[in-house]
Amino acid sequence: MSEKSNMPESAESTSTPAEGPSGTAKTTTPRAKKKRWPITVGVIAAIVVIAGAGMWVWHEQPSFCNAFCHVSMDPYLPTYEAEPGEAALDKWGNEVADASGMMAAVHRADPECNASCTSCHVPTIGEQVAEFGAFVSGDYDVVSVGSSAVAGQPSYSLIERTLDELVAARGLESGDEFCLNEACHNLTREDLVELTAEYDRNPHVAQHEEYSCGTCHKGHRASVNYCSKCHADAPIPDGWITVGQEQDLEYRAN
Ligand code: HEC
Ligand code: HEC
Ligand code: HEC
Repeated sequence: MSEKSNMPESAESTSTPAEGPSGTAKTTTPRAKKKRWPITVGVIAAIVVIAGAGMWVWHEQPSFCNAFCHVSMDPYLPTYEAEPGEAALDKWGNEVADASGMMAAVHRADPECNASCTSCHVPTIGEQVAEFGAFVSGDYDVVSVGSSAVAGQPSYSLIERTLDELVAARGLESGDEFCLNEACHNLTREDLVELTAEYDRNPHVAQHEEYSCGTCHKGHRASVNYCSKCHADAPIPDGWITVGQEQDLEYRAN
């Protein structure tokens, strides 16, 4: 549609394109009115884009996770903010002598890693939609954390997930890729054996079978050397616990 055919009855309009900025109010006013809706739409679109970008940036912050979902996320934040080398509480409220065994704290505190919640829990759209749906409907299972991780208040954590479950929505082949991937530990299981070669009973040697990383390395509670289930000489580094101590933890969900 040409400019002319929009206003066929007005002679003035035929000269409009040539008038430039000095055109009279008579001709510009009706035109401005007509075109106001694209501006409104543009402003709304800009607000949506800015708000969306803001949400996305905020979404990457650890505070986002528990801003909405207090009930299920509150116990996780302190395990992430804990300082390796110092005492802390795990997600169930158990005392941890040294946060060095809680992977969320270790990976947050390491300046080279500087992990946020979403570094480990890489969000997929499908997962986000499912989480939002569960949040709105209240359809999720929680474990009571009685006397609690957060300032003496009762709180609830989610049922503990395996690494396989945590990466399922990402289409990864195995839970190993939760840790062993290009962005995080660009290593193989053989490389891990070398990294802990200092230990006589090297935890990364698959002497009997391959164990999932999550059997020993825990995100939000003290890590457990699974070899200690049968070998009393299995190394228990600072902040780690034995399988026997793990069985004494309160509110174990598995
Ligand atoms: C270093 C990686 C890492 C970081 C960083 C991390 N997590 Fe986790 N998260 C894990 C692992 C591993 C598990 C599996 C359960 C476990 O080991 O406690 C897990 C499990 C979970 C679960 C599932 C329920 C459960 O108890 O298994 C939730 C919810 C969760 N994390 C929330 C968070 C929140 C919120 C943050 C940030 C404040 C965060 N995580 C940061 C590694 C991480
Ligand atoms: C049988 C228990 C066990 C399993 C399974 C296990 N680890 Fe470990 N891992 C350990 C112990 C114990 C240490 C020593 C921790 C320390 O010294 O603080 C360790 C240390 C590490 C380190 C640090 C090495 C260093 O010194 O720089 C990395 C990285 C690591 N493990 C990754 C993994 C990954 C990835 C997997 C799964 C593919 C895995 N581990 C499986 C027990 C285990
Ligand atoms: C369920 C019990 C059990 C667990 C868990 C277990 N082992 Fe063993 N392991 C045994 C038994 C029993 C033997 C002796 C018989 C054999 O050689 O199979 C053994 C033998 C070994 C040996 C060779 C002989 C020796 O005693 O030194 C090594 C090395 C070893 N285990 C390492 C490990 C490591 C590393 C882990 C953890 C990743 C582990 N084991 C977890 C039961 C276990």
